[in-house]
Amino acid sequence: MITATSLFVAAILGIAGVARANDNPTPPSHMGRPVLGESIYTQSPRPLVSVAHRGGAGVAPEQTAAAYAKSVKVHPTCFEADVQLTSDGVPILVHDRTFARTTNVETVFPDRAHDKVGTFTYKEVRKLDAGSWFGKKYAGQRIPALSDILDYVYPHDIGLFLELKNPDLSPGLEKTVAHQMAVDSRWQGMVATGRLTFLSFDAASLRRMSVLRPEVPLLWLNPTVPSSAELKKLDGWADKFGTDYRNLDTAGLKRVRSTNLTLATYTVDTTEGMDWSLKHGVDTIISDYPATLLERAKTETLPVMTTKRVLPPGTDGPRAASAQK
Ligand code: G3P
Ligand code: CA
Repeated sequence: MITATSLFVAAILGIAGVARANDNPTPPSHMGRPVLGESIYTQSPRPLVSVAHRGGAGVAPEQTAAAYAKSVKVHPTCFEADVQLTSDGVPILVHDRTFARTTNVETVFPDRAHDKVGTFTYKEVRKLDAGSWFGKKYAGQRIPALSDILDYVYPHDIGLFLELKNPDLSPGLEKTVAHQMAVDSRWQGMVATGRLTFLSFDAASLRRMSVLRPEVPLLWLNPTVPSSAELKKLDGWADKFGTDYRNLDTAGLKRVRSTNLTLATYTVDTTEGMDWSLKHGVDTIISDYPATLLERAKTETLPVMTTKRVLPPGTDGPRAASAQK
């Protein structure tokens, strides 16, 4: 008999491809999570943390006011942003190591199109058009300074996943971010309501940040799930682990679930990927399409975390909890 569950499994296996075809999707019993009816999948005991990647890079030029304005209306739990430093030490929100892909740098500074982000002053960065590459109607969008994103997240009860990006190219990045937080009280508001998380692929950078701002939860990113031994080491100082969902299988899920770390997947832009993460109880899903993600969560009848309601300090991971004691 063809059941809804078997159809769903067939769809997942068909769309998610060979990597998933050999997986045994039976949830590890030690997860202790409720099973949804006859489903072989599990539901997270925590509401979903939905994250608009680069402010919602699928619907407007990434990390611009246009993207933030659109995503605010959708109200994901958090925005995600990448922070790097200009040559004069201003933290700006940009992902790549150069401005070539996402701006008109080639027109404005023809000889410097492939120069590193950190070789431009803030004044020079503000001359770049960060919107036209995405669509004519976005002409004139600028690369924001770090503090600019607060205008969108702070008054709207949205959280921020702030990624310390390419810290090797931005010496002093952590100190600069910490300083910004000290001089603008809105950051304290973000921290006090549990709405700020630091993330990075660079564990050393996260640790430096943690010394400066120990009250902010940490998420370590890695494209694959490391060994149990590595995860165990991480478990002592980070709160969350984030990985590329395309590399995640049930063995990886099981390894993460055997720790206290909460699990994030990036960058989940297909509905199949969203459904897979939702069905497997992933705590945090990072997507360029926050509206679609929230729709899928609704379809799965999973509650979505709102920062206003569920993220007081101490509720989001073992490290945050111990900081409260
Ligand atoms: O939020 C995690 C994700 O942003 C990591 O990848 O390359 O988009 O910064 P990337
Ligand atoms: Ca990022």
